[in-house]
Amino acid sequence: MSTASTTPPILIGKRPGGPELHLLPGMANRHGLVAGATGTGKTVTLQLLAESFSRIGVPVFAADVKGDLAGISQAGGGNPKVEARAQELGLAPLAYAAAPVTLWDVDGTLGQPVRTTVSEMGPLLLGRLLDLNETQTGVLTLVFKVADDEGLLLLDLKDLRAMLEDVASRAKELTTSYGRVSTASVGAIQRGLLQLEEQGADRLFGEPALDVQDLMRVADGRGVVNLLAAEKLYRSPRVYATFLLWLLSELFEQLPEVGDHKPKLVFFFDEAHLLFADAPDALRDKIEQVVRLIRSKGVGVWFVTQSPTDLPDVVLGQLGNRVQHALRAFTPRDQKAVKAAAETFRTNPGLDVKQTIVELGVGEALLSFLDAKGMPSPVERALVCPPSSRVGAITADERTRVVQASPLRGKYEHAVDRESAYERLRERAQRATDDEATASRGSGAGTRRTRDADAPAPRPRSSGSSQRQSVGEAMMKSAARSASTVLAREGSKLGAKLGAKLVRGILGSLFGGK
Ligand SMILES: Nc1ncnc2c1ncn2[C@@H]1O[C@H](COP(=O)(O)OP(=O)(O)O)[C@@H](O)[C@H]1O
Ligand SMILES: [Mg+2]
Repeated sequence: MSTASTTPPILIGKRPGGPELHLLPGMANRHGLVAGATGTGKTVTLQLLAESFSRIGVPVFAADVKGDLAGISQAGGGNPKVEARAQELGLAPLAYAAAPVTLWDVDGTLGQPVRTTVSEMGPLLLGRLLDLNETQTGVLTLVFKVADDEGLLLLDLKDLRAMLEDVASRAKELTTSYGRVSTASVGAIQRGLLQLEEQGADRLFGEPALDVQDLMRVADGRGVVNLLAAEKLYRSPRVYATFLLWLLSELFEQLPEVGDHKPKLVFFFDEAHLLFADAPDALRDKIEQVVRLIRSKGVGVWFVTQSPTDLPDVVLGQLGNRVQHALRAFTPRDQKAVKAAAETFRTNPGLDVKQTIVELGVGEALLSFLDAKGMPSPVERALVCPPSSRVGAITADERTRVVQASPLRGKYEHAVDRESAYERLRERAQRATDDEATASRGSGAGTRRTRDADAPAPRPRSSGSSQRQSVGEAMMKSAARSASTVLAREGSKLGAKLGAKLVRGILGSLFGGK
């Protein structure tokens, strides 16, 4: 039974005297685009979409690049522009309301911490994060493979660093079974890691890692809006884009197939041009694939960017729902973008799209949504409805209150540093030293050491005695996650050649087999 027919359409915009333009919830996983120059109304449109999805029980994820989306957590009111728009569209008085919001932040200051592990990110996205070339990514993949074969967990950057040193020190020995370990490449990876740490991105990695199910919560029938505070993250555009891409691929890997119902999650990718800026062709292909296939998992991806030409044609072709705000047409390049944007719409004989795009006012847009048959409706000019949550930022106090009210509070706050590659390699080195010492003393018999009594009890890193989730509990979950990662990898090992073994899923196979 399709929910598409039972969930009412979402009003997005209209013109005084014009038709009402609706987005069909059952078509929201056919992806979307919100485009327009700076200051034309993209963020407010995103906010309207997000709160509307929330209202019909669809959870949302969005990065809050400028901090101006957080107002969605508060009821609106007292905004003259919003009131004027409500009047104009006959929607006054607006039923002001807040959406249920969970705030996330990589460094845990503006929201609950969000992390992943090195192994979950995988060598290919990590290679992108470190700005590695293909050869260097190949070596990184090899390092992952050695870690995998030797049962060493790569959780945080410390693990990866230790693993790199270990591989470099055994380069000769490993080359026979794994292929050439170029020390120059190892050096490049190490430099990349250093840079990443300088950007503060080391905080991205560790445990407890984000469980994507926590982004898919529905509270009292309303979808939870997950906002990632991205102001700082965005200063390292590559880290920002790769992290969101990881999240998207993680959703793709973990969610089951579903039919064309209203989406399970809508993912807004703000500043989407960064995803594709100087991305290698192979990566573009994979992104295009993820976007195409994630639809069947019930995830709608909405790209938010200045011009549709920021996105590759294959991706653009998958975005069924369109909100095009005003574009400038000063330079020949601008004009080309306007023309290209106009050509992406199903024409409307009553509307000169190219002309209209440059005339649109703030909060005004060209709209086209998929109809019940999945066909794009003819493009219409309309005023975008005002959101009923607050337009703009929130105060520090309001932020604290939202964070404190989160049902997930306590789950991610305390980093846990269980035994992984770093600790194991340190022990291994220690044993080697001990062995040497013993050997030079000339008596190997009756050693006190318990050889390979592996896996001592894990220790929490932070003192945090007030943890709600016990360390043991977190550990169990982490172990389960890692195990499933390994299993997923095992699955993909079948018939795979060296180098392709580690890859899990679509993004993983990027440079596999080369
Ligand atoms: N649909 C709308 N209804 C009312 N006001 C709007 C609407 N869209 C935009 N505005 C006004 O225009 C301002 C700029 O819009 P914004 O979405 O932040 O632009 P962009 O994200 O494209 O830079 C908003 O702060 C708001 O005051
Ligand atoms: Mg904006």
